Amino acid sequence: MRALVLPASGEQPTFAELPVPTPGAGEVLLRVRAAALNPLDNHIAAGALEQMFEHRYPLVLGRDASGVVEAVGEGVDDVAVGDEVLGHVLFEPPFQAGTVAEYAIVPARTVVPKPADLDHVTAAALPLAGGAARMVVDAINPQPGQVVLVNGASGGVGRYAVQLLSQLGLTVVATAAPADAERLRELGATEVVDFTAGSVAEQVRTAHPDGVDALINLAGYTLAEVPLDAVRSAGVVCTTTQVPDADTLAARQLSGGGVIASPTRDVIAPLAEQAAKGELQVDVYRVLPLDQAPDGLAELAAGRARGKIVVDLSL
Ligand SMILES: NC(=O)c1ccc[n+]([C@@H]2O[C@H](COP(=O)([O-])OP(=O)(O)OC[C@H]3O[C@@H](n4cnc5c(N)ncnc54)[C@H](OP(=O)(O)O)[C@@H]3O)[C@@H](O)[C@H]2O)c1
Repeated sequence: MRALVLPASGEQPTFAELPVPTPGAGEVLLRVRAAALNPLDNHIAAGALEQMFEHRYPLVLGRDASGVVEAVGEGVDDVAVGDEVLGHVLFEPPFQAGTVAEYAIVPARTVVPKPADLDHVTAAALPLAGGAARMVVDAINPQPGQVVLVNGASGGVGRYAVQLLSQLGLTVVATAAPADAERLRELGATEVVDFTAGSVAEQVRTAHPDGVDALINLAGYTLAEVPLDAVRSAGVVCTTTQVPDADTLAARQLSGGGVIASPTRDVIAPLAEQAAKGELQVDVYRVLPLDQAPDGLAELAAGRARGKIVVDLSL
């Protein structure tokens, strides 16, 4: 099978011909129809997680897939060969399986039937970004009437997070460059703050002098990039970039910390159902053939991600 791989530690992503893998116990082999790209793929390609988890090479890139069940491993009896499904490669060691390939192994506990009304490209765009959005929204435990700031709202995770918060009736303050402002309002943002126009925290404090109740942080890898000063005393912060950490928050009389998404079936299935019913918008802004997957990763790394980039294996 053709796959986008890291051949060895420190090497650049490249295409390789690999044997079609055999699913082990609790695993499902998919014939991949579509695979979404995520910043995590670039982090793995850069070797940023090598100290955290064992990496086995060649390592196939990609975590999200929609496709057709080709084979199931021992103990998997809830999906059958030929089923159209979505699945996800969880953030668990060892890192080796991936979805930017003609076939992919995914844990059965992430596999859900693809609703008939959802095409493969749209379905593939859901698991990690949608799962992370679900997790950060749940993590802040939002209460009726609260104001929530979403920093990095214009990206893959943010577009889902804004919608999930809006569905709860919260006031959603979203950060975005001007080109994305209108779309974020359509997705449910009450206010949009232009992060290219100066300090986000200062802009938010102008409109909300007492500060927002919670911050969902989806952008920025240094403390200076995170608009913590926008959050009121005793507010809650949840971050997917792992900045700031819980100690930094506690020192500022804030609670919360980093989350690692674990989009298993219970998380993915409701997102897929919502998307199929049109209750959750899925912004896929670029669809690429397999050969151009590296261009998609480069585009994601460069910023300006206006939703999801998806590799379509049928192109
Ligand atoms: N912990 C987890 O489990 C988990 C899960 C998923 C994602 N993540 C992480 O969460 C982050 C977001 O993921 P994603 O998939 O949404 O990424 P993405 O699609 O690349 O989106 C990132 C967004 O941040 C915006 N942005 C860039 N600089 C900004 C700034 N200074 N202020 C506000 N917004 C800014 C970008 O806007 P422009 O395009 O206009 O620059 C882009 O829309 C990434 O760091 C990713 O690795 C973690």
